[in-house]
Amino acid sequence: MKNLAIFASGTGTNAKKIIEYFHTNSHINVRLVVSNKKDAPVLGIAQENNIETLVINRQDFYETKQLLQELRQREIDWIILAGFLWLIPDYLVKAFDRKIINIHPALLPKYGGKGMYGMRVHEAVKAAHEHESGITIHYVNEHYDKGSIIFQEKCVLEPNDTSEDIAHKVQALEHQYFAPVIEKLLQS
Ligand code: GRF
Repeated sequence: MKNLAIFASGTGTNAKKIIEYFHTNSHINVRLVVSNKKDAPVLGIAQENNIETLVINRQDFYETKQLLQELRQREIDWIILAGFLWLIPDYLVKAFDRKIINIHPALLPKYGGKGMYGMRVHEAVKAAHEHESGITIHYVNEHYDKGSIIFQEKCVLEPNDTSEDIAHKVQALEHQYFAPVIEKLLQS
């Protein structure tokens, strides 16, 4: 059995898809949902699905290894970032070498890096008059959006697509691909 911890800061629509996808899987188990916001909707989604939750604070996250202990106690094998906005500290990257993955709502290396999240990404894509956008699933290292790429999928953009339209197209790809890509990666 491979145990996953999902880290998420926000709404958690991707976390929900992943939880539902692996619900009946006998090899992959979503064991824990970690959030840096105590009122994040993703925590409610976890609780509805009887998944343990953990709320972390910035000081402990960066200055102690308490979280690492929590993850080890629960025998977590993989960390899935699904809308988690804090940079992953060195000690976690080292302890989970090539076992932390993130999804980014654009075609990296474009439109990534610090501060590039949420609608900011889609607004930048729109401002650049891109003809396509998409998703990138990648390994996580100690730099924002810089780990090696595992998977990308594109969507076509029309000239009159608004940034909201782009967000919807990209989110549809996220919901379609993230969980199956995780499954394939963990099987290989
Ligand atoms: C997604 O767009 C993902 O690409 C990014 O954060 C967002 C999370 O959305 N890393 P949600 O909370 O899963 O709806």
